[in-house]
Amino acid sequence: MKCSLLWTVLTVAAFAAATPAARHSLKVKESIAVPRGWAKRDVAPRHMRLNLRIALPQSNFALLEQELYEVSDPAHERYGAHLSQAEVNELIAPRPESVQQVKAWLAGHGLREEDLSFSPAGDWIKVAVPVSLAEEMLDAEYHVYEHSEGDTLVRTASYSLPEHLHEHVELIQPTTLFSRFRGMKTSFRLHELDASVAPPASAPPIHVPSASGGKVDASCNTTITVQCLKELYNAVGYTPKANTGNQIAATGYLDQFANLADLQLFYADQVPAAINTSFKLVSINGGQNNQSEPGGEANLDTQFAFGISHPIPATFYTTAGSPPFIPDVGTPTDSNEPYLDWVDFVLNHPNPPQTISTSYGDDEQTVPLSFAQRVCNDFAQLGARGVTLTFSSGDGGVGDGDPDPATQQCFTNDGHNKTEFLAAFPASCPFVTTVGGTHLVPETAISFSGGGFSNVFSRPKYQDQQVEAFLNKLGPKTFAGLFNKNGRAYPDVSAQADNFRIFFEGRAALIAGTSASCPTFAGFVALLNDARLRAGKPPLGFLNPLIYSLKSGFNDITTGNNPGCGTQGFNATKGWDPVTGLGTPNFGVLEKLVV
Ligand SMILES: *[C@@H]1O[C@H](CO)[C@@H](O)[C@H](O)[C@H]1NC(C)=O
Ligand SMILES: *[C@@H]1O[C@H](CO)[C@@H](O)[C@H](O)[C@H]1NC(C)=O
Ligand SMILES: *[C@@H]1O[C@H](CO)[C@@H](O)[C@H](O)[C@H]1NC(C)=O
Ligand SMILES: *[C@@H]1O[C@H](CO)[C@@H](O)[C@H](O)[C@H]1NC(C)=O
Ligand SMILES: *[C@@H]1O[C@H](CO)[C@@H](O)[C@H](O)[C@H]1NC(C)=O
Repeated sequence: MKCSLLWTVLTVAAFAAATPAARHSLKVKESIAVPRGWAKRDVAPRHMRLNLRIALPQSNFALLEQELYEVSDPAHERYGAHLSQAEVNELIAPRPESVQQVKAWLAGHGLREEDLSFSPAGDWIKVAVPVSLAEEMLDAEYHVYEHSEGDTLVRTASYSLPEHLHEHVELIQPTTLFSRFRGMKTSFRLHELDASVAPPASAPPIHVPSASGGKVDASCNTTITVQCLKELYNAVGYTPKANTGNQIAATGYLDQFANLADLQLFYADQVPAAINTSFKLVSINGGQNNQSEPGGEANLDTQFAFGISHPIPATFYTTAGSPPFIPDVGTPTDSNEPYLDWVDFVLNHPNPPQTISTSYGDDEQTVPLSFAQRVCNDFAQLGARGVTLTFSSGDGGVGDGDPDPATQQCFTNDGHNKTEFLAAFPASCPFVTTVGGTHLVPETAISFSGGGFSNVFSRPKYQDQQVEAFLNKLGPKTFAGLFNKNGRAYPDVSAQADNFRIFFEGRAALIAGTSASCPTFAGFVALLNDARLRAGKPPLGFLNPLIYSLKSGFNDITTGNNPGCGTQGFNATKGWDPVTGLGTPNFGVLEKLVV
C-alpha cells in the first residue's frame, strides 16, 4: 500500500521535474561567502560520489524543547522524567507531506526508495549521488576547495531547490559547510620525569578550603593526576558502583585512537583498582582503533574520564569519516562533520551512556547557520532522553575560531570582514554543557580557556540572571561591537586544563587543553549520576538548568583572563564569567544537592 501510494507521487513528480517550468522554479536555498583561508581550485570530479544528507523539518521541535526544559529543571514537577527514544522520535518526526514531497523530488531524479536511508525518526534522509547529479538537483557548482593549511573539501558556495520544497527541506549537506573540525588539545609535551618539575618530597600540602580535607598535595600544582582531581574537587573516598546501569563515554574522531596498553600503564600509575579493566569500543562508520597509532587526544580523554569514574562501565566511540580527504576517489565520501554520524548512531541506541564527553569542535562562523541549529537540536534530543553532553570550550580564548595567523586579529567570514571575537561550535550550542579551563592550585583561569558569546544561538533563559550580572559588571563600553551580548554565553563550567599526566606510547607525558577539562568534568558528572542512581533517582541529563539554579556546588574562579583577537579577553570574576563559567565542581557539595 505504501509502495503504490509512492508510485503515484513519483510519476507526477517525474513529469513535473521534466517540464521547463519546474526547472525555472528552482530558488536559492542557501548561499554563503566562502570562509577565509579556502581557495577555489578545480571543478569537482564528475563521478565522485557525495553522501547527501537532507534534513526535513522536525514537526514539533518546539514541544521537544519545552519538554527538555521541564525534565531538566529541578523546580519543575517533571524533573528527571526523561523521554523515551520513541517519545522523542514522535516529536521530531517530519510531517508525512514533507517526506512525500522530498521522496517525489528524489524519484524525479531517478533515486529510488531503496537508494535512501533514514535516521531513526525519519528526519534525515541520506543518499549517495555523483557530483554531476547533485549539481543538477541543486543547481550548484561543486569545486575542490583547498585550505591554506592543506585540507581539501568538495563544496559549493550556494545551492537551490524547487520553490515548493523550501518548506519541506531544512538543509542539504555537503554543500556550504566549510568547517575545520579539530581536537581541542593545545599542547602535548613528553614528560622526561625531570625531578625539577616535581615538588620536593617534603613540600607541605596546599591549603584549599573546598578540597577534600581542606588540602591538596603539593605536586598537583605542577602535575595533575586522577588523585589530584579527586582531592581538589572534593571527591576523595567516594567509590562508585559498577552495576547501577550508569555508563560514561568519550568520543573519538580524526583517527584519534585510544591505546589499551597505555591505558594499563595509566591505571598502574594512577588508578590501581582499575588495572586489567578496559572500555567497550564502539565503531561508527568503520571507525578504527588501531593500536599501532595511539592518539594523544584519545588517550587523554579515555584515561581521565574513565580513570575518575572507574568502575562505571565506559565506552569509547570511534567515528570515521573526517576531513581531510582525497577528493578524487570513486567511493562515496562522508565529508560532513562526523559528529552528525555520531549523533545519528547514538540517537538510534535505546540506552545511550548518561554522560558523554567530546573534546572536538569547529569555528562557529564556518558552520552554516542551518547546520549548526540542526546539529544542536539533535543534541537536545539526547538531553531530553537523560544524557549529559560535555564539550570543550576551545583553546583560543576569545578568539577561538581561528584568528588570522599573521596578525592574530579576528575577522568575520560573512563577507563583511568585521573585527569580532570568534566563538566555537558545538561549545556555543545551548543544549550542551561547555567546559572551560583552569590551572594551578589554588586554581586560576588558564589563558587559553575558550569563552564568549554565540553569534548564532541566542541566550537561553537558564543563564539570563548570571550572564546579565556579568554584563552589568562589564559595562556597555567594554568590547562593544566585538561580541553578541544577547548570544548564548559559554563556558558553563570549568576544570583543570594543564599538566595532565597521561601515558602515551608507553611513556608518561604532560598534556594541556580544554580537551583535558572536558573529560574531567564528565568524570565527575558520572560520579554524581552514580549517587543519583543508587538513590533510586533518574540521571541528571541536560545539566545546565540545574547548575545555573544552584547557589553552591562550584568553586568560583575569580582570577585570570582569556586573551585573544589582540585583546586581553574577559576577566574571570565573582559569579559566572566567560572564562571559567560557574567555576569548577565541588563534588562533595554537589552530591548532597542532587541526591
Ligand atoms: C604553584 O605554581 C605557581 C606557578 O609555578 C607558583 O607561582 C605558586 O607559588 C605555586 N603555588 C604553590 C602553593 O606552591
Ligand atoms: C592483570 O592480568 C595479568 C594477566 O592476566 C595478571 O598477571 C595480573 O596479575 C593482573 N593484575 C591484576 C592487578 O589483577
Ligand atoms: C595500523 O597502523 C599501522 C601503522 O601506521 C599500519 O601499518 C596498519 O596498516 C594499520 N592497520 C589498520 C588495520 O589500518
Ligand atoms: C580584512 O580586514 C583586515 C584589516 O582591516 C585586512 O588586513 C584583511 O586583509 C581583510 N581580509 C579580507 C579577506 O578582506
Ligand atoms: C580586567 O582586569 C584588569 C585588571 O583589573 C583591568 O585593567 C581590565 O580592564 C579588565 N578587563 C575587562 C575586559 O574587564
